[in-house]
Amino acid sequence: MTTRINPSILAADFANFESELGRIRTADLVHVDIMDNHFVPNLTFGLPMVERLQQVSPIPLDVHLMIDDPDRWAPGYAEVGAFSVTFHAEAATDAVALARTLRQIGARAGIALKPGTPIEPYLDLLPEFDQVLVMTVEPGFGGQSFMESTMPKLRTLADAVQKQGLDVWLQVDGGVTIDTIGIAAEAGANTFVAGSAVFTGDPTAQIALLRAAADK
Ligand code: DX5
Ligand code: ZN
Repeated sequence: MTTRINPSILAADFANFESELGRIRTADLVHVDIMDNHFVPNLTFGLPMVERLQQVSPIPLDVHLMIDDPDRWAPGYAEVGAFSVTFHAEAATDAVALARTLRQIGARAGIALKPGTPIEPYLDLLPEFDQVLVMTVEPGFGGQSFMESTMPKLRTLADAVQKQGLDVWLQVDGGVTIDTIGIAAEAGANTFVAGSAVFTGDPTAQIALLRAAADK
């Protein structure tokens, strides 16, 4: 199994992003949380920041859009070179059309589901996406506790991906730590976002520990 560890720079030092990126060189992708204070009750940063991070990051960017109207805004993130652009199912007007646009621009297309959003309506649409993000906390803030109640949804999804013979990456985000990552891996996740778990302490050591715990 390929395990990907994507540190979330939401937990990094906002005054020193370039040096923070240098501390996570062993990561697979850099997770960038875009929040608009409408879709979620928190505000982070937007397109100009991603464009600049993209220029200085040695590792490709995994952009997570927690914003209203992704149909309008998501393509811009693909245009500045994000490796993957994930938007929320709850916010999109036409998820399939948006995913096709993102792919056409050259990004991997991801769809994210809040803990209470069912996967069933999307199971027949899986070939349209490169990644599905199962949120394991309510989106908006770092440092929350992992919601194990989302694991049945991840299992359903992993089953469907396998049955359909697809290579859709299954990502979890929120409360992923050395203690919880194994639960998500066992349920079928292969791509793990971790904010506080990586940046609290030595990121290189934390990334190695997370990888080992996921692969156990
Ligand atoms: C939460 C964000 C997450 C957040 C995870 O809405 O989408 O990416 O940074 O933070 P931790 O790993 O601290 O739960
Ligand atoms: Zn995120």
